[in-house]
Amino acid sequence: MSKKLIVGNWKMHFTTGQASLYLHKLQEQAPNYRDVEVVLCPNLLALQSLSLQVNHRKFHLGAQNCYYQDEGAFTGEVSATQLRGLVHYVIVGHSERRHIFGETNKDTAQKVQAVLRNGMKPILCVGETKHERGEGETAHVIHDQVVAGLRNITSDEIEDIVIAYEPVWAIGTGDYAHPEDVVKAVKLIRKHVRALFGDKAAEAVRVLYGGSVDNTNASSFVWAEGVDGLLVGGASLKAKVFSAIIESAHGQDNDKG
Ligand code: PGA
Repeated sequence: MSKKLIVGNWKMHFTTGQASLYLHKLQEQAPNYRDVEVVLCPNLLALQSLSLQVNHRKFHLGAQNCYYQDEGAFTGEVSATQLRGLVHYVIVGHSERRHIFGETNKDTAQKVQAVLRNGMKPILCVGETKHERGEGETAHVIHDQVVAGLRNITSDEIEDIVIAYEPVWAIGTGDYAHPEDVVKAVKLIRKHVRALFGDKAAEAVRVLYGGSVDNTNASSFVWAEGVDGLLVGGASLKAKVFSAIIESAHGQDNDKG
């Protein structure tokens, strides 16, 4: 049975206290299904306390970013080594990291490698800006970000990698992509993975959609061809809405876990 993966990216929302209250609410409200894996990505500061509070059978934790060196004089950074044991997943190359903080494909690739080296799973985000889309550059951008992001990865590691297709113009705008375009983008992503690592890897890599996912559109994306799950920003901050998104990823014929 292949599980759907639903990731909630809380971004820079919630103080530690608010995050704890929210997790409490979510643990009460969110359904628990054997066929849906749910990952919560709070801010780094809240991770430690939430890791003690979280029901590990219901949720996994993820970080929103990390640095690629394991340790050293890098003021203000947190390494994958320091996250080890606290989280299962680390989001890497989110468009806000790329576009607000100037992270390059090279930085992103180094972070993917650091996350794998430290025994966690990277969620590599790729996607075109509105301008690039207008210029007909979508396929190029996806190619470049996937190929660069997976640099120096081995085919054995690919099953631990999640790639999120997140068109930048769809993030936080309410202007979500058309499911048919998502299917095309996901096919392209698998095609590039196939070219680099072969057929088995192209099937094994998990691919998500993200960008203005909410409870009204989640099922059209999560059940689109080739899509393994969703990366949810704003809609993951409301327990009722996020619970409904989890619900939408649950297959009809699978029992509650
Ligand atoms: P959004 O964000 O769901 O608020 O559009 C998605 C993301 O940034 O991962």
